[in-house]
Amino acid sequence: MILLTGITGNNGGATATALLEKGIKFRALVRDPAKAAAWADKGVEIVKGDLEDPASVAAALQGIDRAVLILPNGEDQERLELSFIETAKQAGLPWIIKLSSPEAIRGTTSPIPLAHIAAEDAIMASGMNWTFVRPSFYMQNLRGVVQPARETGKLSWPMGDGTVALTDTADAGAFIAKIITDADSSQHYGQCYDITGPDPVMNFHDIARIIGEVIGREVVYEDCDADAFQEAIRPFHRNQWHSDAVAHLFAEIANGATPGIKTNTFQEIMGRPGTSFKEFLQNLA
Ligand SMILES: NC(=O)c1ccc[n+]([C@@H]2O[C@H](COP(=O)([O-])OP(=O)(O)OC[C@H]3O[C@@H](n4cnc5c(N)ncnc54)[C@H](OP(=O)(O)O)[C@@H]3O)[C@@H](O)[C@H]2O)c1
Repeated sequence: MILLTGITGNNGGATATALLEKGIKFRALVRDPAKAAAWADKGVEIVKGDLEDPASVAAALQGIDRAVLILPNGEDQERLELSFIETAKQAGLPWIIKLSSPEAIRGTTSPIPLAHIAAEDAIMASGMNWTFVRPSFYMQNLRGVVQPARETGKLSWPMGDGTVALTDTADAGAFIAKIITDADSSQHYGQCYDITGPDPVMNFHDIARIIGEVIGREVVYEDCDADAFQEAIRPFHRNQWHSDAVAHLFAEIANGATPGIKTNTFQEIMGRPGTSFKEFLQNLA
């Protein structure tokens, strides 16, 4: 039996959708069952719990042989993930699958990847079988730029000549659903899967050009002030910690510290290419 966390969010929701499409039964730990009512209607077994409460996690893990750990970025992510990992270890969970990030590279000073590294280290030391799924920069991060591009013909972000590899969140969910339902689970034990879509690594001039092709007008990338940008997107973040952490990640993209690396892992495991950025934009329209 599978346990998912984060089903009311982007990644957990994408994974749940892909599992349901495969006809797989699974359990989801949620803080507020009312928020997950639509999932319950689709046959998902909903259990109320909170990663702040290890007893609720232990109860949710009963009868589970694989658990997917997905949590949002925040100053509490590392603590909550370490707590989940310890509870899972005590419960004798056979296999833990963690959503992580390819920026989780030793030597980083960026808070979000540092939290992922701490959790990955704890999982590797736990004795449980493990798999890390590390999707690159989500195409969904760029959803909000399309309308302004239609209106102004500009893509204004503080990315300089920085480059990214892009992934559709739906593909990340489909990937997790595939590996946790493969007949031979053991092929995925000890694997760190950095996944991307099929596009080459792109800078933001490339991204602006593709947006232009889809919306039917030329779109030009222009650098904007990083502080003003952070202020403008602050309402989309959980709090100041989250806003600062995302600004740190973006600065690392802009200065070339995390240039994005395209991989063929998605194609190799799924037997099909992921969604390209152009297809993603066309599906938005
Ligand atoms: N953005 C990117 O480009 C990118 C790329 C690769 C990886 N990632 C990773 O993706 C993750 C974020 O995932 P997301 O976008 O799916 O987040 P999200 O949409 O904010 O969803 C977070 C989920 O976690 C649940 N949750 C939060 N606190 C909880 C707690 N204490 N106990 C139980 N459940 C809790 C939330 O439940 P409620 O509904 O109750 O709040 C929600 O279902 C991060 O780890 C990030 O590093 C992001």
